[in-house]
Amino acid sequence: MSKDSWAVAVDVQEATTPSIQVSFRGDTPRKLISYPTLANETPDFRAGGDLAEQSLVNKLIRRALVRNRNEVEVLQRDPRSPLYSVKSFEELRLTPELLRGVYNMGFNRPSRIQENALPMMLAQPPQNLIAQSQSGTGKTAAFSLAMLSHVNTENKWTQCLCISPTYELALQIGQVIEQMGTFCPDVKLAYGIRGNRMNRGIKLQEQIVIGTPGTVLDWCTKYKLIDPNKITMFVLDEADVMIATQGHRDQSIRIHRQLTKDCQMLLFSATFEESVWRFAEQVVPDPNIIKLKREEETLDTIKQFYVICNEKEDKFASLCNLYGSLTIAQAMIFCHTRKMASWLASKLITEGHQVALLSGEMEVAQRAAVIERFKNGKEKVLVTTNVCSRGIDVEQVSLVVNFDLPVNMEGMADNETYLHRIGRTGRFGRRGFAVNMVDSDCSMDIVKAIEHHSVYRKISKLDTSNLEEMEKLSI
Ligand SMILES: Nc1ncnc2c1ncn2[C@@H]1O[C@H](COP(=O)(O)OP(=O)(O)O)[C@@H](O)[C@H]1O
Ligand SMILES: [Mg+2]
Repeated sequence: MSKDSWAVAVDVQEATTPSIQVSFRGDTPRKLISYPTLANETPDFRAGGDLAEQSLVNKLIRRALVRNRNEVEVLQRDPRSPLYSVKSFEELRLTPELLRGVYNMGFNRPSRIQENALPMMLAQPPQNLIAQSQSGTGKTAAFSLAMLSHVNTENKWTQCLCISPTYELALQIGQVIEQMGTFCPDVKLAYGIRGNRMNRGIKLQEQIVIGTPGTVLDWCTKYKLIDPNKITMFVLDEADVMIATQGHRDQSIRIHRQLTKDCQMLLFSATFEESVWRFAEQVVPDPNIIKLKREEETLDTIKQFYVICNEKEDKFASLCNLYGSLTIAQAMIFCHTRKMASWLASKLITEGHQVALLSGEMEVAQRAAVIERFKNGKEKVLVTTNVCSRGIDVEQVSLVVNFDLPVNMEGMADNETYLHRIGRTGRFGRRGFAVNMVDSDCSMDIVKAIEHHSVYRKISKLDTSNLEEMEKLSI
């Protein structure tokens, strides 16, 4: 499919609209914070809580499929029907053009989730599907393939509708479809996103429309560019991110209501909290369900310590001692606020370290660039706030320092964030260290609380000024 055969060019490149509501792990916004007034001292929660941005950063830096050895759990709508799974793309009987497009992307065989999801999505009569697996396991590629395979190119109207939480994520999906459809010149795609202005009343000829809920809803109802009765495949990507914004949830449901009963509904999510599940059930009747459990992060190879310090200068001195006595491949240091992160970064730079700084006020593309440089070893130390604590794998990190301990909005131990932070050291059997800086009774309590959380194992005391003790440590 040549580039110019894609009908719609995006004429305005708009930035993501800053959302004024921040929601943390769940769907109830707890606090109203508007970006411009977000003070430097404010805990850098925003970006950590902004699922859509996190998802985009992950997409920008991920080059390959995330491996997962867990079994796939399949719940069939009709348990008596045979369960199909495929070990090769050939078994799917795709058109030669589409198969060529898949191989051209460097995909040799279906991913774990694709083995089961693809036959279900391509089955006749059509079946509805809810699929959940962690990000990077091939969900987007799976439904892109399903849409490309589903369309009837003879028909010059929209048949597949796909919605995604943000402008940027919609563009990403579009790129996958374009790339996969390189050799399918008759399949056309339109982007239902802000800035893509259309004349009212014409009917789109593109068989696939990918967009955000607001614009797609307008295209269906106000502008009538799409006839919802003719949509035979509806895809809802990143449902967990989608429903974190109330408006998106409502718009998705309104789009869904316009569709016919026979339309095939497909929903994808990286997580499966109660709220996602309720939403999924609402928009996907009689579903098949595929789940792929996240691989447990093993902490067996990670030694965990705490260091008693006074205030930040003292913490800094401990950090320097620690760094001086260990041969460290790469280190990640977590701070609570942007102000602390930038203070620490500049102190480390004065000490001669090559330091990268990553925090919430940075644009997604800037963040991806910083992570990319760090992954390539351009800097050995990454100082960051909560922004970076999830989803980003840097294999060569062998030391994680909690310069400030992970706490939630109530100031209590945030066990989940702790696990994500230290989980990035000691992967693939390598040894790693996690060091927690304790600067008060209160932070000692937090360390104890984290330790008591069963899976984390012991957190031992470390005296970084005791050279003998430090020499016993080696990575
Ligand atoms: N079968 C496959 N073989 C190899 N790479 C794949 C396969 N499916 C997807 N990928 C690649 O893996 C990465 C993650 O895939 P993606 O579909 O975006 O996952 P998800 O939607 O679950 O986050 C992408 O870089 C994609 O190109
Ligand atoms: Mg995806």
